[in-house]
Amino acid sequence: MKTLLRIDSSFNLQDSFSRQAGDHFEQLWKTRNPEGKVVHRDLAKTIPPHLTHKVYNAFSLGTEGEHALEVSDELVSELEKADEILLGSPVYNYGVPSTLKAYIDHVIRINRTFAYDPKTYIRKGLLENKTANIIVARGGTPINGESPDGVEAYLEGILNFMGIDRVNSFSIYGTTYEGSESGLQSSKKAIKEYFKSIDHAKEEA
Ligand SMILES: Cc1cc2nc3c(=O)[nH]c(=O)nc-3n(C[C@H](O)[C@H](O)[C@H](O)COP(=O)(O)O)c2cc1C
Repeated sequence: MKTLLRIDSSFNLQDSFSRQAGDHFEQLWKTRNPEGKVVHRDLAKTIPPHLTHKVYNAFSLGTEGEHALEVSDELVSELEKADEILLGSPVYNYGVPSTLKAYIDHVIRINRTFAYDPKTYIRKGLLENKTANIIVARGGTPINGESPDGVEAYLEGILNFMGIDRVNSFSIYGTTYEGSESGLQSSKKAIKEYFKSIDHAKEEA
């Protein structure tokens, strides 16, 4: 049985574009994984605290189960148990919401999600064999076909750092302009195409 960990971070609980595209992804995932389990982590409903020096120090001391590590333990364990991750993020002020940044600060954790080889000091991500799917919604439009703020690249870098190398990215642009519905529709189309490509690869195998 596969597990999809769905992380949402838009504070808009009514008509968020990243959440609507996420719903579409989740629905298509469920039809392909009828026995699968979806775990929801909603960062607008349960806001992670800022990382403190005390918690950060506890990461390297490895004192698992300690009160200071409660939030990190829970969030990391959800990631470890997931086969696939769906991460929805709006762009706020050229970056991810501060709630998502706080989440990231709790899951980038030495000896749980990444480690250094004691001899070579080469870093290695510890979350292997997982696929992540990122949905980024923004009011702005692309510049020369590229993301104007680098949020997709940032999130991909974070996931890669923890060992998650398979990352699919779906971007929604122009959500604050007239005709914003077309941005949502094209991201839904891209998500549908992605699932079709997986179906096709399975048929070929
Ligand atoms: C506080 C705030 C800051 C924003 N900053 C940006 C920005 O820097 N760049 C941008 O393209 N859009 C920006 N927007 C627009 C949002 O990215 C847009 O409304 C997006 O659709 C939000 O995602 P959601 O629909 O999933 O809630 C901002 C919106 C808010 C509320």
